[in-house]
Amino acid sequence: MYEIIEKEELGATIKLIKIHAPLVAGKALAGQFVILRIHDEGERVPVTIADFDREKGTITCVFQEVGRTTRELGTFKEGECLRDFVGPLGMPSHIENYGRVACVGGGVGVAPVYPIARALKEAGNEVISIIGARTKDLIFWEDRMGAASSELLVATDDGSYARKGFVTDLLKEVIEDKGIDLCLAIGPLPMMRAVCGLTKNYGIKTVVSLNSLMVDGTGMCGCCRVTVGGETRFSCVDGPEFDGHQVDFAELARRSTIYKDQEKISLERYEEKGPQPHRCRCGGEE
Ligand SMILES: Cc1cc2nc3c(=O)[nH]c(=O)nc-3n(C[C@H](O)[C@H](O)[C@H](O)COP(=O)(O)OP(=O)(O)OC[C@H]3O[C@@H](n4cnc5c(N)ncnc54)[C@H](O)[C@@H]3O)c2cc1C
Ligand code: FES
Repeated sequence: MYEIIEKEELGATIKLIKIHAPLVAGKALAGQFVILRIHDEGERVPVTIADFDREKGTITCVFQEVGRTTRELGTFKEGECLRDFVGPLGMPSHIENYGRVACVGGGVGVAPVYPIARALKEAGNEVISIIGARTKDLIFWEDRMGAASSELLVATDDGSYARKGFVTDLLKEVIEDKGIDLCLAIGPLPMMRAVCGLTKNYGIKTVVSLNSLMVDGTGMCGCCRVTVGGETRFSCVDGPEFDGHQVDFAELARRSTIYKDQEKISLERYEEKGPQPHRCRCGGEE
């Protein structure tokens, strides 16, 4: 059982949980993820490692409530436990001194960008981070991102905070003002696709982290397959980071909606029945 030792609301639907998982924390690196189950009957949910503390044995995850499981996870309190917490999974980010790097995070994608930006800065890069969200309520970790970056730029789609516009508007300005040697982008698929469309015009290498549907997370089921440079790759073991200019985003977008009807039914059932009462066996609600 994996105890939630800290919980924080970062926005209306965005929550942070810090989990005691010393074996995972001991090996975690920026860019990797975990797969968790909230109780015995829970589905397997991949979530990126947003931070880790090897000494305290903790992993921090930030998630957005989008469906049945993330909604129920959002009701967990400090002291309650997760059933499974498997990781670290996936390949870590490739960290080296590239020169000037733009780290672009959209929505909840800011959380996975954070440890990568920090590692890139520690490796000697000038890190210009650009974070954005639809509206002010969905902006979080401005302080952390500021500390992990040489410069931080913020945008909201509706102009309710900082610059009005998309992260791609700010990225274009940075490219034209200063130039960049590498771009890292994590966020919703349309955002990553738009970033790649922009950087391709300037010939700037761009790394994206793909949230393809996953089941086992160990390369056995094939659920997470994506086409990269015309070849089939498994996001869970070959990724989740790939060369964004090689990713078939149209196929990825199609595949990520294939269970839409079942997800809707599952959420409706959850809304009728509410959270499972039996979920925690170690100190929280029985
Ligand atoms: C490597 C990886 C890292 C991720 N990191 C984060 C993170 O740090 N924070 C965060 O909020 N979300 C993250 N996600 C997405 C997260 O896994 C889904 O939001 C979650 O599984 C949704 O489950 P649900 O039951 O709440 O919603 P559902 O109603 O089941 O699904 C809602 C949407 O979430 C996506 N999704 C559903 N099941 C899966 C699955 N098994 N694998 C991947 N996507 C799925 C689909 O696009 C779906 O339409 C990550 C996904 C991957 C693959
Ligand atoms: S999730 Fe099964 S192969 Fe990647």
